[in-house]
Amino acid sequence: MNVNGSPTRTIWPAREGRAVDIIDQTALPHAWRTLRLATLEDAAHAIRSMQVRGAPLIGATAAYGVALALAARADDDALAATVATLAATRPTAVNLHWALARMHAVLTALPPAARADAAWREAAAIADEDAAQCRRIGEHGLALLRPLAEKRGRLDVMTHCNAGWLATVDYGTALAPVYAAFEAGIDVRVWVSETRPRNQGLLTAWELKQHGVPHTVIADNAAGLLLARGEVDAVIVGADRIAANGDVANKVGTYLKALAAREAGVPFYVAAPRSTVDFACADGAAIPIEERAGDEVRVVHGNDAGGAPAAVHQLPADEAVVNPAFDVTPARFVSALITERGTCAASGDGLLGLYPEMKPGSRPEPDSKSHAKSRPEGHGA
Ligand code: MRU
Repeated sequence: MNVNGSPTRTIWPAREGRAVDIIDQTALPHAWRTLRLATLEDAAHAIRSMQVRGAPLIGATAAYGVALALAARADDDALAATVATLAATRPTAVNLHWALARMHAVLTALPPAARADAAWREAAAIADEDAAQCRRIGEHGLALLRPLAEKRGRLDVMTHCNAGWLATVDYGTALAPVYAAFEAGIDVRVWVSETRPRNQGLLTAWELKQHGVPHTVIADNAAGLLLARGEVDAVIVGADRIAANGDVANKVGTYLKALAAREAGVPFYVAAPRSTVDFACADGAAIPIEERAGDEVRVVHGNDAGGAPAAVHQLPADEAVVNPAFDVTPARFVSALITERGTCAASGDGLLGLYPEMKPGSRPEPDSKSHAKSRPEGHGA
């Protein structure tokens, strides 16, 4: 999508040599900064510290992390250690484990001497496929949104966190249908919830502004009122992991929006690619929820009046804090899942209808041949 009018992805191969460049999302929305990842540790740090974030982008970065590591050593032990290092960076987004399993399956089938080049090609394929899948999510989502827009002559969408192009390689998941609606000439506006404590909503506002899409930022707690007043036509969020029964883990606060949307009779859609569906995870209770540092709640970051980066300590360091990064929305509150293959009910039957190759006894997926067997150890589900 556009930054200052130029099409930009969130991760791209560096022009010089084997490295990748990323947008440092910890600097946004206040500053634009790119970073070069040249080693496995660079990639692991980028994921851990949330320089890159969002489930699909975490997966693509991990795939490139494998490629970076194998440039130094590509024997079986090095590959296993690389996968273990990257798998331990963040627990909830299953795209990370999906990408590592795919890389592992492709690379173990090759002699070590052939692995470095193959890893680079496979990581690039994962990134390209993510962009293509997100684009298709946009088209399928638009088909759901169009009738809502036709009914009112405009479209007000509410989202949570950042599930736009910054969270993927390009286009986004939850925001892909919004961008598609905007491109189709629909008068679309977005309610962007701040998403305390990391404030990923500010990233959403930033990328919508870059693309010229009208939007309004709200405090998270305002969502219920707007839904109850009829000021929202649809809620669309992304996902970090969708269990086999359609339960959805996404940024903490998603569940509250789903409850309020149900009460208000507003459709609640979850947009995600195949790499976010964990068919090995029976239901939401089995999804590991990341617990992050309490200082994310105690300390608020922004710019001071002079425009310099500043941190405000709103709580004393010894104040007890709990900081779960995600929550689980039960499938019954999800009106539909929007995927690259189309839309479906948030249920086991709905998912298997779109992905029949995942039915027990079916042939494995062409794009991740031994996904289930080659899952890295330590995978939480
Ligand atoms: O902690 P983050 O910023 O990585 O969490 C991101 C989200 O929860 C997104 O909604 C999710 O990954 C979907 S991204 C297309």
